[in-house]
Amino acid sequence: MGKKDKFYITTAIPYMNSKLHLGFFYEATLADVVARFKRLEGKDVFFLTGADEHGQKIEKSAQAKDISSQEYVDMMSSDMKRLLDLYEISNNSYIRTTEKAHEKVVQNILVKLKENGDLYKGNYEGFYCIPDETFFTDAQVVDGKCPECGREIEFIKEENYFFKLSKYQDAIFKHLEDNPDFVYPETRKNEVLGILNQGLKDISISRTTVKWGVPVPFDSKHVCYVWVDALINYISALGYTLADDKLFVKYWPADQHHIGKDILKFHAIIWPAMLLSLGLPLPKQVAVHGWIMLGQEKLSKSKGITLDPDELAESYGVEPIRYFLMREMSFGQDCSFTHELMVRRFNNDLSNDIGNLLSRTMVMVEKYRNGIVPSNANINLDFKKKWNEVREYAIRCVKEFRFNDYLSKIWELINMANKYIEDSQPWNVAKSSEDKDVKNLDGILYTLIESLRLSTLMLIPVIPKTCAKIFSQIGINKNTDDFNLYKDGEWGSFEGKTKLAIREILFPRIKG
Ligand code: ME8
Repeated sequence: MGKKDKFYITTAIPYMNSKLHLGFFYEATLADVVARFKRLEGKDVFFLTGADEHGQKIEKSAQAKDISSQEYVDMMSSDMKRLLDLYEISNNSYIRTTEKAHEKVVQNILVKLKENGDLYKGNYEGFYCIPDETFFTDAQVVDGKCPECGREIEFIKEENYFFKLSKYQDAIFKHLEDNPDFVYPETRKNEVLGILNQGLKDISISRTTVKWGVPVPFDSKHVCYVWVDALINYISALGYTLADDKLFVKYWPADQHHIGKDILKFHAIIWPAMLLSLGLPLPKQVAVHGWIMLGQEKLSKSKGITLDPDELAESYGVEPIRYFLMREMSFGQDCSFTHELMVRRFNNDLSNDIGNLLSRTMVMVEKYRNGIVPSNANINLDFKKKWNEVREYAIRCVKEFRFNDYLSKIWELINMANKYIEDSQPWNVAKSSEDKDVKNLDGILYTLIESLRLSTLMLIPVIPKTCAKIFSQIGINKNTDDFNLYKDGEWGSFEGKTKLAIREILFPRIKG
């Protein structure tokens, strides 16, 4: 067997300042769906997420609770891990920026940037937004408030190390020109071009008035600016500059960094500039999603506008939420979460469409064929054609991050199967004992089971545990991680003849 294609995918690492909300789990689910899809395609996937644990915002949150910053982040990141597990995020690794190994890599990189002549000492005079952990100039500040989040902003005047961001302006511009998909979608790429056209200024990369950070190795008064520290996670987690760097050698450059639109500049300008300074290849793509909103407001940990992932999981179950996020959000756009929409998707798509297809089909196989799935003797060519169309289209959707279209395409097959039950009326066919009708009924039932099997194959990336249940109910006992989109994905390749398991309702309807 040839060497598998590698695929390295990351999420942003959220601040551990307070409990995570659904916004980050949207991002994590997006990356998870891509990671699981690539595994389904047979790729060797490395999926990284983790925790951003330094900085002033966390220092302050810990002080407010009267515990040490370390105790605070230990507590918060163990809660994050619990939630990742709850939300079925299949990350291969989890990085915390307070790990010693990560801190070592940050220090190694600072030394390298300095040796390359890209760091210099200067005096910073300007504003700093603690919730955004971002520096702003006088001109950017609006009515004395942060231009990004509208909150109070503090004036700081301190000696900082600066990174020569301006030096990389042309190289980044050229990279964007040569790699049209580097920043996706195009609106975000245009935003980056706009920033570049205004001209880049060098940026502060150290703080002297903050203690909770990685010490600058050549100047003990300074700690590294939290954003520089955080961006490095994408390579420190792979062992860059450490004795064991085999993951780095194997997986870098990243294939996809998933981020929200608020942190575009850090990923599409500052991070590439740091990598160029280090002489490293740039990530292949920065995929920028929109925000989950509550009414008109972006969810925000520090503003306390939140959708609690535990409460939502309790109300709807995790997989309906994963389904909802992928089905309702249009990649790159903002989307308001409402319970009405959630209930509608749950009842219509999950309980009715796929849930009923499974239970009606199983009832008929139980009733007319003693619970044994007919063999693949009669292939329905209309369904075969439809399936080929669905699969091809869905593969394209993943490349273009159109997960809502991916799901609605699969639902075309599910709905075609539901309609086929109405049109073919198996209960009437079953009344006849003529040989041709017996075969006909076998063909109908097989077609329904095959539609379920292949829709389920495509749904593995989105609702893996439900898929495992569907497979086991139709008598396919194989781990969902062991399926392959191509090897298992031919219409009619399922031989049938399996024994159905005991029927179980997948998604009992919920009240609105
Ligand atoms: O920015 N909807 O952390 P963070 C969708 N530590 N996505 C959202 C969202 C929402 N309402 N709110 C936040 C940071 N996000 C840094 C990242 S990476 C080297 C350092 C997304 O906790 C947000 O866009 O503020 C970001 O991609 C991620 O959640 C973490 O946000």
